[in-house]
Amino acid sequence: MKVRELDIDFTKAKIYWAPEDPEFSQFWNGSSTFLPYLEPFLNKAVREGSNRLPDDQAALKEDCRIFIAQEGRHYRNHAKFNQLLRDSGYPGLAAREAKMKADYDRFWNEKGLKYSLGYAEGFETLGPVIACFFLEGARELHKPSVDDPTADLWRWHLAEEYEHRHVCNYLFHKIYPNAYWYRLYGICYAGRHMLTYMISTAFYLLNEDYKSGKIKRPWLSRLRTIGMLGRLFAYVLPRLVKCLGPRYDPINLPAPARCMEVLAEAEAKWTRVAKPSVSAAAV
Ligand SMILES: [Fe+2]
Ligand SMILES: [Fe+2]
Repeated sequence: MKVRELDIDFTKAKIYWAPEDPEFSQFWNGSSTFLPYLEPFLNKAVREGSNRLPDDQAALKEDCRIFIAQEGRHYRNHAKFNQLLRDSGYPGLAAREAKMKADYDRFWNEKGLKYSLGYAEGFETLGPVIACFFLEGARELHKPSVDDPTADLWRWHLAEEYEHRHVCNYLFHKIYPNAYWYRLYGICYAGRHMLTYMISTAFYLLNEDYKSGKIKRPWLSRLRTIGMLGRLFAYVLPRLVKCLGPRYDPINLPAPARCMEVLAEAEAKWTRVAKPSVSAAAV
């Protein structure tokens, strides 16, 4: 695990970054919009959990530190893309995002650490499964026309979700030993909360595109959307079920194809360029 200082430039990014599959693009665009609220919430839970670890857990504390740094870079880059999305229309996004922000504030302020860390563990159980879907399973991404900063954003983000897959699970079990059933509960409420948002926001974005005429023949688009979601769930659900057993250890999950290559490519392409200091610039 390491921190990668990525700062992706979205000035040439397109809303339909999978150009042949606008429904696929909009599903992930909708999912991007709540990450600047979700990931700070995960970081609060992991920071607080890490502070409660005993001193002999130095390695896990260090993994928590890297986890927080990685999530911080994820949501800052998503926030840049989200601004592009808002600037392209979609006035209903603001209210949707405000509700998610209020939900995460409420979870943190009123539900306590166990609930918040359970939510984080639930999300992070889904993370490596979605990473495998994105890097291996999604046929929409295998097309040569997919060449866009937003595709790079998701590939890098999800490859790091695979990379830090064990952190929340180990932290949750260290702080709450014998909480197997609570872990399953966390997966259920986190999954329900996020998926409701992701799917309804995708349909909202697509409906706006039907109204503006960006997508012709809405009935055909709706069929494609159902097919796209069907393939996603057919891939994810059986793999997720395997993560529900009491002996689940995320460190044993096999890496998705090209995971390390994707991370190296993202780093080579999008690492933040340090601004020259005044004296260096004057030379
Ligand atoms: Fe993330
Ligand atoms: Fe994560």
